[in-house]
Amino acid sequence: MQNFEAKIVKASSLEELEEIRIELFGKKGYFAKEFEKLKNLPNEEKPKVAKELNEAKNALHILLQSKKDDLLAQAIQQRLEEERLDLSLFEPRELKGALHPVKQTLDTIIEYFVALNYSIETGPLVEDDFHNFEALNLPKHHPARDMQDTFYFEDGKLLRTHTSPVQIRTMQTQKPPIRMISPGAVFRRDFDLTHTPMFHQVEGLVVEEKGKVSFANLKFILEDFLRYMFGEVDVRFRPSFFPFTEPSAEVDISCIFCEGKGCRVCSHTGWLEVLGCGLVDPNVFAAVGYKNVSGYAFGLGVERFAMLLHRIGDLRSLFEGDLRLLEQFR
Ligand code: PHE
Repeated sequence: MQNFEAKIVKASSLEELEEIRIELFGKKGYFAKEFEKLKNLPNEEKPKVAKELNEAKNALHILLQSKKDDLLAQAIQQRLEEERLDLSLFEPRELKGALHPVKQTLDTIIEYFVALNYSIETGPLVEDDFHNFEALNLPKHHPARDMQDTFYFEDGKLLRTHTSPVQIRTMQTQKPPIRMISPGAVFRRDFDLTHTPMFHQVEGLVVEEKGKVSFANLKFILEDFLRYMFGEVDVRFRPSFFPFTEPSAEVDISCIFCEGKGCRVCSHTGWLEVLGCGLVDPNVFAAVGYKNVSGYAFGLGVERFAMLLHRIGDLRSLFEGDLRLLEQFR
């Protein structure tokens, strides 16, 4: 018996202890054999020997159990030491929100013009025909209305197709000089890889006493603005047409993907179209009752700028709310 006690105390692993347990309490173990022998004893001795055996069995059982607990605790301790995790390697997960890339781009654009003392003007999203078209030198049945696929309401009102109506509203309520931008959402019936029914524009308008601003001023400011946005790009002005400006131009920057060499994004032209602009048409000034003034205006699409700045291929992905995209803008 002593022998078993010592064995248990000395056991150095759970495996060794298990062997001792089987040796003691197994079907063919020490106690099984000892109890077997009971039947050969004279009847009067049986109770005494059986009692001693049971006591010994219980005592060894308790000893074995407590040794097992010790070894288990040791094993856990050892495992903890071997598998130590250096949690300091991991940054706590930040679930901070972020501004949407379109909003970030809009802010960057606005900052430039605010620094030049432009005011920020806003207007209603639901417009009337006069502000969205008529006053912008787009009379009814003018073919140029087709350029803007308009959402109409039954009462003849419409979702503004550009932020240009804000320049009309500003000129109606303020006297020149005007120096403003109007950032905001606009709506067109269009949906494909490069068009969504809602997108954002920033329109700029400067009005001064007649002769004080020219196309040269417009060109200077837009070149400076585009280099502020896109870095050292080449800028070119192409003659174009808008009903509300004369002369009009579309503005291209040298392709920021291929540096003007020609690639898929710029359709192998080396140029990316980014802006529309021109000198305000006299008919627009007439519509708001301005006399003896000259001015320039320009308009741009914020999503297009965001896509170019962040190399985003599909315009629609800006509106899907996919966290895999948005998390990159924290
Ligand atoms: N309003 C024009 C558009 O949405 C853009 C523009 C604004 C062009 C101002 C010239 C001057 O297409």
